Amino acid sequence: MRNKIVAGNWKMNTTVTEGIALAEAIVARMDSVPAGVSLVVAPPFTHLTAVAKVLAGSPVALSAQNCADQPKGAYTGEVSAAMLKDAGCRYTILGHSERREYYGETSEKLVRKMALAFENGLKVIFCVGEKLEERQEGRHFDVVQTQIAEVLFGLSPEEMANIVIAYEPVWAIGTGVTATSEQAQEIHAFIRRTLAAHFGEAVAEATTILYGGSCKPSNAKELFACPDIDGGLIGGASLKADDFIAIAMSF
Ligand code: PGA
Repeated sequence: MRNKIVAGNWKMNTTVTEGIALAEAIVARMDSVPAGVSLVVAPPFTHLTAVAKVLAGSPVALSAQNCADQPKGAYTGEVSAAMLKDAGCRYTILGHSERREYYGETSEKLVRKMALAFENGLKVIFCVGEKLEERQEGRHFDVVQTQIAEVLFGLSPEEMANIVIAYEPVWAIGTGVTATSEQAQEIHAFIRRTLAAHFGEAVAEATTILYGGSCKPSNAKELFACPDIDGGLIGGASLKADDFIAIAMSF
């Protein structure tokens, strides 16, 4: 059985005070979350230590949204994987399309970031997904395969146990347009076949693959019912505890 995960990507939203209140509200509703569904929240860097305190003793795991591609030193404005671990993170998101698009995140950088995340005992939620024009041109399978090959194919099968993949079609992120469950299932199954071809069936079957992109309480049930969709990476809807929990209850 693969791990089922619902992860909230808060992006650049909430003040520290609001973030603490949101985390408290999520922890308070944990009773409603079905057994076997793990929750992860990814607040901004400034919130991590405070939110870690709120989550302590709860099953909700803390994640960062990014980490530096260097271990330490003169890299103004960056936050290292070691700092994230020390702040209480169990995960970091890497390769989110907003970072690829606005901050020049390349596969080369992602390989370095991933190595540092692993060295520091962090699991990685690795994001892939095509842009609208790439889907319109029928290139979505190629794009996703390349993103996976360039970053994940250098890992060992053992390291793959610390990877969660999030498939997020860029055209569905924050737009209110969700991929249909058929579209999502089709590419999730393709991702699993891609992993099977390189790492073997056991790794492919064990890897959690999340769907992200306008996932909300009204569509989560249909998405999560698909055989290759193991949960969600939730942006906008993760900023309201009730919606986030309702999504987690959709399994
Ligand atoms: P969204 O964002 O749920 O607001 O579309 C998802 C994401 O970018 O992780």
